[in-house]
Amino acid sequence: MRKFLTRSIAAAGAVAMLALSAACASERQGATATGGDTAASPAAGFPADSLIGVALPSKTSENWVLAGDLFTNELKTAGFKADVQYAGASATVSDQQAQISAMVTKGAKVIVIGATDAAQLSTQVAQAKQSGATVIAYDRLITNTPDVDYYIAFDNFKVGQLQGQALLDGMKDKKPKGPWTVELFSGSPDDNNSGVFFNGAMDVLKPLIDTGDVVVGSGQQEVKQTAIQGWKAEGAQQRMDSLLTSTYNGGKTLDGVLSPNDTLARAIITSVKGAGKPIPVVTGQDSEVESVKSIMAGEQYSTINKDTRKLVAETVKMVKALQTGGKPEINDTDSYDNGTKVVPAYLLPPVIVTKMNAAEAYANDPKLAPLTK
Ligand code: BGC
Repeated sequence: MRKFLTRSIAAAGAVAMLALSAACASERQGATATGGDTAASPAAGFPADSLIGVALPSKTSENWVLAGDLFTNELKTAGFKADVQYAGASATVSDQQAQISAMVTKGAKVIVIGATDAAQLSTQVAQAKQSGATVIAYDRLITNTPDVDYYIAFDNFKVGQLQGQALLDGMKDKKPKGPWTVELFSGSPDDNNSGVFFNGAMDVLKPLIDTGDVVVGSGQQEVKQTAIQGWKAEGAQQRMDSLLTSTYNGGKTLDGVLSPNDTLARAIITSVKGAGKPIPVVTGQDSEVESVKSIMAGEQYSTINKDTRKLVAETVKMVKALQTGGKPEINDTDSYDNGTKVVPAYLLPPVIVTKMNAAEAYANDPKLAPLTK
């Protein structure tokens, strides 16, 4: 697993000009650890009916909606009391800060956090640690604090690499020889994952940009140009509208668009269709119903399957291990550096999905499998 961190640092240098804000400046975050201590301190067990807090960001994609429902049900089934909260629609970090503080006050023994803003929770997680709670960062790493015990996620750097590779594969299928003209989009700058996805994708794309095989048509490669605040569809649609006007009005062909998730991918496709242009190869993530339909219809090219059911189940397993005073299972102690320490992680493998493998990828998903028939 060390190779991931090494590769991350190398790529961070290569795409330094593209780096997101300080919170996202290196792949899996923070190649500048000062701590390096990977030993977490599990709680010494707690009553089986304890309160477990789950603080999720606003509902910016289907995966967050599903996660909330699953946590509520599965924590209850496991005998715990569950307090599941979302940050409000405006995604203000203060909502989430207040929710976490309230969970601490109510005596939560474990607090699972899908951070709204990776870098703005250090006071709250410090409070949680002082109260004896265990803090688990869920899907999104919490940065610049020693007070995160575990990280559980699909390997989000790998997600970015798969997106970059899918973009290339899709463009090569349509047009075997480059140069290919692309545009790049990245997620909300306050979400630590945005930088991880982008740097994973650039790990694959940058060498080809350097050789001129891939050309960013607008030249917009800096995060202040590519980021979509709040992961908002309308932000992506507006940016695509203006790119089409500024760069693709004179007959230049757009071969591909790197989109970090499905919500933005569909907005990008809407924009292109609205302009009466052919749909380029567009990547995505999350396996949202409308995007799976779009893939099967030959519009969106790819998505990523990060099965939320598995991620929540593994998180609840961690909570159960902590309840008995045991050590939760981790499988990575190298990759996810939050700027203060390398956070012990349990990583699940993401799966790239195109029309080619959709039936296989969703075979065990009762909601998505019928869409692939
Ligand atoms: C998640 C993605 C999701 C995005 C927007 C990210 O942190 O990892 O799966 O698309 O948030 O909700």
